[in-house]
Amino acid sequence: MELRETEDQKIERERMKEAAGKAAADALVKSGIKLGLGTGSTAIHVIRRVGELLAAGKISGIRAFPTSFQSGMECERLGIPVYALNSRELGGSLDLCIDGADEIDPENRLVKGGGGALLVEKLAAYASASCAIVADESKIAPHLGTGFPLPVEVIPEARLSASRALEKLGASVVLREALRKAGPVITEHGNLLLDVRFREPVDPVFMETELNKIAGVVENGFFTRIRPVVYIARGDGRIEVRE
Ligand code: 5RP
Repeated sequence: MELRETEDQKIERERMKEAAGKAAADALVKSGIKLGLGTGSTAIHVIRRVGELLAAGKISGIRAFPTSFQSGMECERLGIPVYALNSRELGGSLDLCIDGADEIDPENRLVKGGGGALLVEKLAAYASASCAIVADESKIAPHLGTGFPLPVEVIPEARLSASRALEKLGASVVLREALRKAGPVITEHGNLLLDVRFREPVDPVFMETELNKIAGVVENGFFTRIRPVVYIARGDGRIEVRE
């Protein structure tokens, strides 16, 4: 049974997200770097902190690559200079990427894509020399694949065939529905999201590659080929840094 968060718990979780975001930005963001900025309610605190550091003159010359419309708009609001990944300024690579996650296993492997931005988030993470993840402690998981549903982005034409292929791998599959719009979520690249829950824990390293072999799959939310440093905000106010 899913327990609803009380208002106090929501405020507390928001405080933890902000603390993790600030801690990572303060420790890692240096002047002049090419910076990937993630998506979601935790990563947005990183963006806000970068905005504050820039406004205070503590850092300068950041070249940012936002991983979604949401992150791009926040950069725009704060005056953080953004560039396309293919621009001359970024040249297809980043120095550092800071993002949130939906689940983090004991080896810092991740499930991402709860906000539907996994495709560009993965592009940014894998094009980056180093990565950091910011999260509150609720994101820690003993293993991946059976808890938070794994998002798999598929082209619209593959909705049924890819669902069947995923079910054959031992998963239940739900097409992600939009809120306040009839029909499915359409990603920023015009695709659909299948939310996938495996019945048994899976090997995320194997599955990250295997799922992308299904025809019509564009990308999946397992992130196992980066070794991020993880900033986890604990309920007692501590920030645990897990390498
Ligand atoms: C978006 C993501 C987010 O980083 C992930 O869903 C965590 O979001 P939040 O910090 O809001 O819990 O992968 O696609």
